[in-house]
Amino acid sequence: MLRSLPFACSVLQLLLLATPIAADNFPYVGYRTAPFLPPQLKVTKTGPTDPGYIFVGPRGNQGMGTAALIYDEDGQLVYEGPQEVTANFRTQRLFNEEVITFWAGDMTDLGFGYGTVHILDNTYREIYTVTLGGGDLNFVSPFADAPASYIDLHESHVTERNTLLVTAYNVTQHDLTVIGGAPDDYMLDGMFFEIDIATNEIVYAWSAVEHLAEIPLEGSKQGLGPEYGTKEKPWDAYHINSVELMEDGYIISLRHYWSGFYVHNNGTVMWRLSGEKNTGDFEIDDQAVFSWQHDIRVYNQTQEGLVLSLFNNANTPTETVAATTGLSFYVDLANHKVSTLRALSDSSDVIHSVSQGSYQLLSPQSGHVVLGYGSIARVKEYDASGKAVMTAQFGEDNAVASYRGFKCQWKATPFWPPAVVAIRTTDEEAQVSMSWNGATEYDNWAIYAVEGEKLVKSVKREGFETTVELSGLREGYVQVVARQGNIPLGMSEVIYV
Ligand SMILES: *[C@@H]1O[C@H](CO)[C@@H](O)[C@H](O)[C@H]1NC(C)=O
Ligand SMILES: *[C@@H]1O[C@H](CO)[C@@H](O)[C@H](O)[C@H]1NC(C)=O
Ligand SMILES: *[C@@H]1O[C@H](CO)[C@@H](O)[C@H](O)[C@H]1NC(C)=O
Repeated sequence: MLRSLPFACSVLQLLLLATPIAADNFPYVGYRTAPFLPPQLKVTKTGPTDPGYIFVGPRGNQGMGTAALIYDEDGQLVYEGPQEVTANFRTQRLFNEEVITFWAGDMTDLGFGYGTVHILDNTYREIYTVTLGGGDLNFVSPFADAPASYIDLHESHVTERNTLLVTAYNVTQHDLTVIGGAPDDYMLDGMFFEIDIATNEIVYAWSAVEHLAEIPLEGSKQGLGPEYGTKEKPWDAYHINSVELMEDGYIISLRHYWSGFYVHNNGTVMWRLSGEKNTGDFEIDDQAVFSWQHDIRVYNQTQEGLVLSLFNNANTPTETVAATTGLSFYVDLANHKVSTLRALSDSSDVIHSVSQGSYQLLSPQSGHVVLGYGSIARVKEYDASGKAVMTAQFGEDNAVASYRGFKCQWKATPFWPPAVVAIRTTDEEAQVSMSWNGATEYDNWAIYAVEGEKLVKSVKREGFETTVELSGLREGYVQVVARQGNIPLGMSEVIYV
């Protein structure tokens, strides 16, 4: 049982998480006004969608496109962040404001990461930077150089009490004879922390390896494999990949146990919801079977029960089992029964996602859900009836990944000015290109000849970058203004044309 999954499974999984793969033919888009080369977003709409922008953090085969990216539903770029590896790029609510949050750092080739969580306001100013490490935490890493912050890539969830829930992986020496290893082997602990965002202080810490009685190592679906168990290649027993608040504690997702666990505030594991029948504390219906899952979320918790959703990968690089689905269940706490409410997949575009992924309920009113397909570079929106109404693709299958993918409503006016570039074509003619990275609120551009403050022309915004041909324009200084109707929102520098 334990050895049934070949070690290659974990190795390939890790490759997908970390290693750039050879370039493919997926189209990228360049601009005159910004040094960006994001993937073209191919959007297919097949029904009415909910409002919002698409938030992804692609990485894989093209360094220039590796950044936090926002697109609109027409596939136009809205924002590109710095070139870096990110995870969980999205909006969340903090101190009653919508903010942008994302993890940035190093994704190791061991399946986890070391990084920092950045929180930006609606001008893209960084208002909080959350880190973990130092002090008496004594994290151990497999690498010679200690990272600056030990926040893992998998979770950065803002709670209603303005704290941040994050995961962390710590190397621990442990007797692994129960799974066929050695008494002095090394493994990865699965930890989570709740951090006060305003002060960066830890308010709660939990470690899986301190709960071996409740979560025995023999229950892991991740075989040890011949190369694993050293300090440099510790065994990834748990693979913790989501955390969220419950009434009296937390719910965590352990991918390598095909299960969600409810951890009480006092640390005790109160129950296990397993995706495998006759395992864990609930009787699950046939549709509720899941494996290698991500992103467990909880809604409407009462004494009697709760609604839970997750991204059911159901596949590994070495095993194609079934279509990847987005699942939602009613969990009957009184009778220990799980009944499936929704099982989302697109029969016209069946996906097998072997790693990463997300499930986002857009709104309880519309019932629309967005699935981010992780190792498959696609985001899909489903309507309340379970029909796929939108697919957005940003790379070739298994060549580009975004750890999670979201649709978020967002209004931002950047603190930086609009960019403008002009190319003179003749004595009387010039092409002027304008953009304002991240700005969502302007709908037109006004171009002014600086001398005499004369309005030369106003043009409708066209996607990320608007280019206009100006005729009858003699040499001189020009400035462009991004406007909403007649209201100026941002002014470029003055350029000579
Ligand atoms: C990490 O593991 C080491 C070695 O097992 C231990 O001493 C240290 O306390 C752990 N750190 C945390 C934050 O649990
Ligand atoms: C934690 O609280 C739960 C619920 O009251 C209880 O069942 C459990 O025994 C407690 N664990 C500890 C270690 O106190
Ligand atoms: C939570 O309960 C409300 C009110 O009954 C309902 O409208 C909503 O759909 C529920 N949410 C989920 C995710 O089931």
